[in-house]
Amino acid sequence: MEAKKCCIENLGSHVGEHVDVRGWVYLVRQHGKNLLFITLRDGTGFTQVVARRGISGYENLANIHREAVIRVVGEVIKDERSPYGYEIRAKHADVISPSSPTIEEEYQPDSSPEVLLNKRHLVIRGEKTSSILRYVAKVLKYFRAFCEERGLVEAIPPLITRAACEGGATLFPIKYFDETAYLTQSSQLYLEAALPALGNVYCIQKSFRAEKSRTRRHLTEYTHAEVELAFIEFNELMDFTEDLVIHIVQRTLEEDERILKKLGVDDLKVPKKPFKRLTYKEAVRKLNDEGVPIEEGDEIEESMERKLVDQLGEPLFLTEFPASQKAFYFKRKNGDITLSMDLLVPHVGEIIGGGMREDDYETLLLRLKEINANIEDYQWYLDLRKYGSVPHGGFGLGVERTVEWILRLPHIREACLFPRLINRLTP
Ligand code: 4AD
Repeated sequence: MEAKKCCIENLGSHVGEHVDVRGWVYLVRQHGKNLLFITLRDGTGFTQVVARRGISGYENLANIHREAVIRVVGEVIKDERSPYGYEIRAKHADVISPSSPTIEEEYQPDSSPEVLLNKRHLVIRGEKTSSILRYVAKVLKYFRAFCEERGLVEAIPPLITRAACEGGATLFPIKYFDETAYLTQSSQLYLEAALPALGNVYCIQKSFRAEKSRTRRHLTEYTHAEVELAFIEFNELMDFTEDLVIHIVQRTLEEDERILKKLGVDDLKVPKKPFKRLTYKEAVRKLNDEGVPIEEGDEIEESMERKLVDQLGEPLFLTEFPASQKAFYFKRKNGDITLSMDLLVPHVGEIIGGGMREDDYETLLLRLKEINANIEDYQWYLDLRKYGSVPHGGFGLGVERTVEWILRLPHIREACLFPRLINRLTP
């Protein structure tokens, strides 16, 4: 039978026509002796196939199992009652590849997190999990679109480096022939170097953190979307950050209604500009007022971030952290107060960290000496302050944390294809 090859996502534009769809069987239900209902998945979406005894190839379907790959030729019917909106009334079916009957034994939806992580290569095929992973791709698309609209150029910095960006404690050393190198914690230093060559820049790269934190928001390998801007002031950097976050939420509401619905998110709103801003000192005072014991100089821990931002219900900038809590490269406002910002959101806490960079050669050299850095490894970075230094700043957005926030996920691991956690290197 002649029919147009079509993916499930596009069924809506073929109503009343015959299509040829190929995909994996997600669910089979026999209804009486003569009717099969198959939920089919092809990566672009899910649909229902109805096959009646008597169609050509019906016997091929009789013994199929979940995850068998089939080809169905049939008519597309709009069906308001179907959870997918359309169904295919099969006229013909082939089995392209069978699947063992035992997949149900591999895991159950309510299996322990450990089992679900061990079977992640199969779990990702599920409706909810695949929707989350599709949404990750959307966030990357929205981030890129925003940066491109603002005239930023995408750069690809190296992931193997000798110059630590965020301090020695969370570095992953690797053997690099006869030397020791590190997996990058952030592409920031290289983006700074790209500024005089390319103008404002961004990148989407992996960053690595040997963090022994077992929290709902820490990975050892995560997707880092970073921006570096020349000739800006601190307030302009925060404005840019706000616009980016608003852009991502706005596009999500415009394009991802189905994903939001699938994840049960019905209260996502575009945050209002300007976001509330609290300095570190103000935040400490506020926490104390609310009975949280914290002294000036202490870290604002995750639970404290959540206390500040969850009750606000909107994104919140924390700014001007003490230098002792921030990396060597931060420009200071005065004394030991840095021009730094963290953007906190309800449900997760920090999703963005950034600020202004020290642009004076002597001061930066002093900062590197203060942390006992091997100056040779940073000579190239110091050169940037020697040859045409300008005021500049930027930030990094944690992609998985952003997805965790927008889709209200219970754990960051849900936002990764294959999460890397303290005790997890497989699959
Ligand atoms: O605040 P961080 O450490 O900032 C930097 O790395 C800067 N050099 C970025 C820059 O200015 N270009 O990290 C930025 C963001 C955090 O806000 C968080 O969203 C994410 O990266 N992040 C993590 N995400 C998952 N797991 C981890 N272990 C993370 N560590 C940081």
